[in-house]
Amino acid sequence: MLERINSLLAEIAEAKAVTAEEAEAFRIRFLSKKGQIPELFEEFRNVAPEAKKEIGVKLNNLKQIALDKYNLLRSEISSAGSEPGNEDLTRPAFPYVLGSRHPISIIRNEIIDIFKRIGFTVSEGPEIEDDDHNFTKLNFAPEHPARDMQDTFYISRISAEDSNPGDILLRTHTSSVQVRVMQTQKPPIRTISPGRVFRNEAISARAHCIFHQVEGLYIDENVSFADLRQTLLFFAREMYGKDIKIRLRPSFFPFTEPSAEMDVSCSICGGKGCNVCKYTGWLEVLGCGMVHPNVLEACGIDSRKYTGFAFGMGIERPAMLKYQVNDLRLYFENDVRFLEQFNTAF
Ligand code: DAH
Repeated sequence: MLERINSLLAEIAEAKAVTAEEAEAFRIRFLSKKGQIPELFEEFRNVAPEAKKEIGVKLNNLKQIALDKYNLLRSEISSAGSEPGNEDLTRPAFPYVLGSRHPISIIRNEIIDIFKRIGFTVSEGPEIEDDDHNFTKLNFAPEHPARDMQDTFYISRISAEDSNPGDILLRTHTSSVQVRVMQTQKPPIRTISPGRVFRNEAISARAHCIFHQVEGLYIDENVSFADLRQTLLFFAREMYGKDIKIRLRPSFFPFTEPSAEMDVSCSICGGKGCNVCKYTGWLEVLGCGMVHPNVLEACGIDSRKYTGFAFGMGIERPAMLKYQVNDLRLYFENDVRFLEQFNTAF
């Protein structure tokens, strides 16, 4: 065996390649599955145990030398090819590897598409916000627990104890964009605002400190709760299928009155009950309600003339359901083995 290793070493040292075909022949002869080096690795199994150590080192060394030589041959060929007049014009072009959309983007675009079809525009706001847009104008009381350091990432706080409209923070929800839209546009307003939000949560399979939401806002004369319900029913049917059922449960948000949470019938078990819906047959998908008159007034809209509805939903949850991903952290790790699986048309 040692003799063969030595004679291969000599052969490799001598080997030359001028064309890509010759380099490939080198690879096939020494390194391919049926090449000489893998063949030696096969034989290595039968080497006597006391000789294994010495021969194993030599064999690994041989493989490395062959790999290095192969890379050297190839680099010599490609640099020779780049000399003017020396290019191989028949060489096939490098294949372009097309990337794929991130699953969160796929779901976000799906949501945007559905609302665009019924006349909603898309608006965006900053991720770095002030307390005024994230909380105060949305009717959060000064002592509301969501303002607490435990939930909110503050960038600069004017006073440690009291919240201040000038405090700078990472937005905790995309409802802050509602405020910016109402301050700058006149009704009728029909818009959705997708974006990243931040909360000071311990990272686990089910929670993350960064996630994505889509906020919706509709303001006009005579907008009613029935309009809200019908809009959400349209959305749920487009998103989850024609047979989906929705239900609205009373809830509380400072910026809506009345407020509700919407559940959809579980698309995994068809409402019969499974471990995804915790045997209730329903999945919670969004919060919603009629925009509180205090919010309209704080943003310069006459609450006697106009009414409106708003809703807000997370994107990770429906993406987890659709793709059966059971760990949220996968969405943020950018592991191409995970991302390549979502190779749908753009
Ligand atoms: N901002 C809420 C959250 O982050 C979601 C929400 C609920 C938005 C109700 C709304 C709404 O516009 O009306 O949990």
